[in-house]
Amino acid sequence: MAQMTPATVRLKPLFTRDEIADAVRRIAAAVQRDYDDKNPVLVGVLKGSFIFLADLVRQLEMSLEIDFVRLSSYGAGTQTSGQVRLVQKVERPLKGRHVLVVDDILDSGLTLKFLMDYLARQKPASLRLCVLLVKRGQQYVPITPDYHGLQMDEGFVVGYGLDWDQKYRNLPDICVVEMDGGI
Ligand code: IMP
Ligand code: MG
Repeated sequence: MAQMTPATVRLKPLFTRDEIADAVRRIAAAVQRDYDDKNPVLVGVLKGSFIFLADLVRQLEMSLEIDFVRLSSYGAGTQTSGQVRLVQKVERPLKGRHVLVVDDILDSGLTLKFLMDYLARQKPASLRLCVLLVKRGQQYVPITPDYHGLQMDEGFVVGYGLDWDQKYRNLPDICVVEMDGGI
């Protein structure tokens, strides 16, 4: 691989680009069915959702708007810090709108629970959550996505928008990071 990778790090493919594309197609079909005439606002969570959101919206044949929020909870490590901060808010009012939050992965749920609670206070007509990937059994706050594409067990993954210390977002497949001595 052309990127700099420390000798002790291995990236093991978990979901190929074709499996991801199938999952995105399935989610898009469900979203299309549910939001067809609702002119929803899709709120992407930066930065991790940018590729998923881009692929998803290009399969939706409906009127919709796109906005972004940026939250910060992770530092350079691979464990959530538990501290969530809203770094960038949505630009337009969400009151009375059908809001669909789009994110890359549901892990502990802390970040997304914080965001969903924050958005609910803006009194949208509806508020749902769509994530590409769910880490099975890892949520320690009560949160269930309304749409999800893929599931994995514990581990840390990169690619298709997901980063490790801001790197590897550009990988077309989703890969597990394996490090000698653990991660
Ligand atoms: P949570 O609050 O623990 O659910 O984590 C939410 C955010 O952490 C996700 O939106 C990702 O940006 C990031 N994250 C969680 N797990 C992973 C992973 O395995 N790889 C890369 N980023 C992750
Ligand atoms: Mg994220």
